[in-house]
Amino acid sequence: MMNNLKIPEHVAIIMDGNGRWAKKLGLNRVFGHKNGVKAVREAVEFCGETGIKYLTLYAFSTENWNRPQSEIEALTNLLVETIVKEVPELHKNNVRLKTIGEISSFTENVRQKLNQAIEFTSKNTGLVLTLALSYSSRWEIIEAVKQIARKVANKEITPESINENIFEQYLTTSDMPNPELIIRTSGEQRLSNFLLWQAAYSEFYFPSVLWPDFSKKDFAEAIEEFQKRERRFGKTGEQIKQEL
Ligand code: FPP
Repeated sequence: MMNNLKIPEHVAIIMDGNGRWAKKLGLNRVFGHKNGVKAVREAVEFCGETGIKYLTLYAFSTENWNRPQSEIEALTNLLVETIVKEVPELHKNNVRLKTIGEISSFTENVRQKLNQAIEFTSKNTGLVLTLALSYSSRWEIIEAVKQIARKVANKEITPESINENIFEQYLTTSDMPNPELIIRTSGEQRLSNFLLWQAAYSEFYFPSVLWPDFSKKDFAEAIEEFQKRERRFGKTGEQIKQEL
């Protein structure tokens, strides 16, 4: 059973396996992405029901730009259509939409639709739903380094004053806690350039279910597994018991 008192604050998910799901049915990969949207809805509802405060979804990686042009177009169209369609429902449920990633790589139309949805839900105080779009962690870290280097060049900060807390303020996730749990579906056990800095102390969970089949029951199992693990942050088990 899931313990409602030990719910993680931030869960991040690498939604993987859409293509394989479609292939199993002898259908086009895009069909898999379309069915992936249902699983996104389930995951968002699950967070609302359990009190998870931050859900971050890896929806489009920087590397995904290397896919065939037709799949890129279908995927970005699907993203935009879904967001436009779901925004009223998200708003009604007090969800705040956010994106992280190199949004400037998308077309004007995509950027405009995204910004409208973000603006529309910006005052909501419930679940923070972050879509990682054209995101990669190394890109994010390099961007942070550039900003810090500029500040040093302008003598606004000294190199000696840079520490982990300062550095984190330049990441795209500066306004959220680090994810306690990262889930990747489809059995692949890699981070693939997702939240590398933020994952320093995250628990990882790799269910074999393909993303379109990921249900609330699967999400609950992930949380149960998380709750069984002892998070020690480099301390001994004895120290942790004493702190409880
Ligand atoms: C990975 O499966 C999935 C993606 C690259 C896209 C995920 C996007 C969606 C589920 C649509 C999301 C919509 C919203 C609103 C967030 P894959 O294509 O890599 O699958 P494969 O590894 O089996 O080929």
